[in-house]
Parts: sequence; C-alpha cells; structure tokens
Amino acid sequence: MKVIIRDDSKAGSLWAARRIADRIREKAARTNAPFVLGLCTGSTPIETYAELIRMVRDGEVSFKNVITFNMDEYVGLPVTHPESYHSFMHRYLFDGLDIPAENIHILNGEAPDLEAECAAYEQAIVDASGFDLFLGGVGEDGHIAFNEPFSSLESRTRVVTLTEDTRRVNSRFFGGDMNLVPRQALSVGVATVLGSREVVILVFGSKKARALKDAVEGPMSHYCTLSGLQAHNDGIIVCDESAVGELKVSSYRYFKAVEEAENL
Ligand code: GLP
Repeated sequence: MKVIIRDDSKAGSLWAARRIADRIREKAARTNAPFVLGLCTGSTPIETYAELIRMVRDGEVSFKNVITFNMDEYVGLPVTHPESYHSFMHRYLFDGLDIPAENIHILNGEAPDLEAECAAYEQAIVDASGFDLFLGGVGEDGHIAFNEPFSSLESRTRVVTLTEDTRRVNSRFFGGDMNLVPRQALSVGVATVLGSREVVILVFGSKKARALKDAVEGPMSHYCTLSGLQAHNDGIIVCDESAVGELKVSSYRYFKAVEEAENL
C-alpha cells in the first residue's frame, strides 16, 4: 500500500484526477479495449470530478472509451431523487464528460429483484474484463462503498443494511433528518473493489483520521473494511494533512520518504 500525503484536499484531488487521466491515456495508447473505471459518491470525490471535467473540456483526456461502474446506490430511492447516487453522478461528473450514456453503470435500487440486480452487476463487471482502476472514498468508520464494519472482506455486490452511524452522517444530505435516509443500499463488495487492478482511495479531513489509522496501521480486519486494501498489490490512499493526525510519526515519515523517492 502507498499513502500519498498532500497539503490539502485540493492537491490530493488533482493528484487523483491526474492519475485517472494518465491511466486512461496509457491504456488507449496500447489497446482499443475500453478503460473500466469504478467510481464513488460522497463529498470527497467532488474536486477530483471537477478536475476530470476540466481535463475533458480542455482536450487533455477523453471518456469516449471508458466504461464506469458505481459502487453503490440506496434501496428504494427513485433515481430522480436529488440524493440518489444516480442524480449525484450526473450532477457532479457524467453531465460534464464525453462518456456515452450506455457506458455508465449504476446499481438500480428500485429493481424488483434486488438479488438478481446485484448478481447481474457482478456479471457485467466480469464481462467488461474487470476494473482497471477503482476510485473510492471512506466512511468515518472505515467503510468502503457501503461495506459497513464487520462486512466480509470477501464480499461481493449485495443488499446491505446501513448502520445508524452511516445514516446519521449521511442525513446531512437529507435535510438533517435521519428518517429520510434509506435503511438499505446495494453495494459492491470489498472483494469487488479489491479485484480492480489498481485501487485509489481518497481520505480527506480530520473526521477520517481514525479510519485512516485503522486502515493503514491496524490489522487487516472486517472491523475497518478499508483495511482489506493492505492485501492489494496496487492500493493507493491519497489523503490530506488533516487526515493523518492519528498516524504514527514513523508511518508518516515512511510514506513521505517513499513519495519523495518515487517522485509520486
Ligand atoms: C457513503 C458512500 C461511500 C463514501 C462515504 C463517505 O457512505 N457509500 O462510498 O466513501 O459515504 O462520504 P464523504 O465523502 O461524503 O465523506
């Protein structure tokens, strides 16, 4: 695992956007096969998405041959609801890209058979030859996608029950009313994310400091599902200075030294 530490979320977001654009261009230079990108929601990736939109607008990268799969979606929330992850993704990313509509995949939280929806999603990822890069965030309790604490690190796309903590944190998007936050979601599993050839996780702000410490220095454990990244060969966490407050000084120095030596 690598941990890239930037001064603030803006600099971290630019790093992540550049990484994604570089990878898309590298693949396009060697094959016609589409680039398969996993995407997340939340406030964390918004600056990265804004930078990707700028890059497309300025002709620095194209999403015409990119296929995307989002991590998760609430169960029972109409796709037209402003807080559905469908709405979020169009608002903050897709509407500003040159991506063909048919290349966008987001779980349908209103599907009549949710289990069949999840199984079909896993199959669609396999049919697309798996992820080249998965961009994720993390919850305050260390959850990745909606894989709450004590989710199996071997989990795949499925229906999940949200914890009270997550619903409370996410109630800020629902006018502060926890009762409006759905109780269930569809989510890719930890193993779905870790199956990606490269995983980039954004961790910004002091509220994520404990999650970062557990993920990086703690044991690999279902207690903090992001810690599963420890077993990945190309796992990168991009964080800002306020998220590293709980890391040991020795860990901080180690990651900074690697960053400098490898010019990341
Ligand atoms: C939700 C999403 C996660 C996201 C997390 C953090 O739980 N399912 O994918 O990482 O929120 O959100 P934020 O970036 O707003 O802190």
